[in-house]
Amino acid sequence: MRINTHYQDLEDSYLFSTIAKKVAQQSAEHPEQKIIRLGIGDVTLPLCPAVTDALHAAVDEMGNKETFHGYGPEQGYDFLREGIRGYYVQKGVVLEAGEVFISDGAKSDLGNILDLFDRDNTVLVPDPVYPVYVDTNVMAGRKILYCDATEQNGFLPPPPQEVEADIIYLCSPNNPTGAAYNREQLGAWVAYARAVGAVILYDAAYEAFIQDESLPRSIYEIEGAKQCAIEFCSLSKTAGFTGLRCGYTVVPLALCGGRLNAMWLRRQTTKFNGVPYIVQRAAAAVFTPEGLRQIEENLGYYRENARIMAQALREMGVWFTGGESSPYIFMKCPGGMDSWQYFDLLLKQAGVVGTPGEGFGKNGAGFFRLTAFGEREATKEAMARIRALHEKL
Ligand code: MLT
Repeated sequence: MRINTHYQDLEDSYLFSTIAKKVAQQSAEHPEQKIIRLGIGDVTLPLCPAVTDALHAAVDEMGNKETFHGYGPEQGYDFLREGIRGYYVQKGVVLEAGEVFISDGAKSDLGNILDLFDRDNTVLVPDPVYPVYVDTNVMAGRKILYCDATEQNGFLPPPPQEVEADIIYLCSPNNPTGAAYNREQLGAWVAYARAVGAVILYDAAYEAFIQDESLPRSIYEIEGAKQCAIEFCSLSKTAGFTGLRCGYTVVPLALCGGRLNAMWLRRQTTKFNGVPYIVQRAAAAVFTPEGLRQIEENLGYYRENARIMAQALREMGVWFTGGESSPYIFMKCPGGMDSWQYFDLLLKQAGVVGTPGEGFGKNGAGFFRLTAFGEREATKEAMARIRALHEKL
């Protein structure tokens, strides 16, 4: 037996596990300190009533011989896939029924999709980046190239002229920087991918935070994208499903003459038995008019948190991106501090947890991510503590 030695090439631990350990240690040493967590992007508002009603009803169905459900359809139930297609129509995008696949979340699919691609493909990721894109490719031993997202390009790198990639990861609105591509910028990536024959793996997990109509909420709003892109989306941040788990992936039939769609179906039917019926019923409730209205209230709450945070940072004279079309704010650490130094200082002296930008790649060094998913009072309190700390520096 030989093990996969590529695992040795991974960073020691997943970013959010390292943070959790540091926070646990601080809590154990200072049980009196009230720690405010604006680190991992986990939601704090409960599921909306349309969703919990659907869950209760589905549980009752499962407990009744006449309405019980065993294994479901492999790509997901039609009632949910149709709801998602309707949601895309609102964005001006028409999908075929066979293009939508239901999953337990974008993270799993973003990793699993790599089964479809040869190990010898070259991967292009922006830096800083959501660690999952990098780690899943390191595990497979794939060559990774980086394109620089920096303060100078507003953390929205254009396609590189000098390299040819096979698999490109894009996330917009971006995790961790909160920056969002406009149609023209995204169009440049679609044109690049088509010119070099690459596939774009497009993570749209934060699309629901966009309000500005000049920003695309799906890559398929860009002409030609169905020929070169797979889109991943999730209900985690959109509808508070981080603990319930449901997402969806769109694999267009126009991509590689339908081969990738057929391969993904084959992969999923071989390795995955689908998302629980009750969870799919809950997810379908999100896409009803009532569900959409209710999740919009929750999204509005997080947007208001982001506005409060952005306003505080502006008043403190701190440079940042995000916070407008995104629940993330990517701020510059004060006084030229490095991100982990600032993380430790903020945790120890202010009891506020964020995420060190460096954990997302070398270009994140000197930056720090805060999330708007906290409770309102805790968010205000965190900003007051950050302000007080900065005044002392
Ligand atoms: C984050 O904080 O970056 C996200 O919560 C991670 C995730 O969605 O997996």
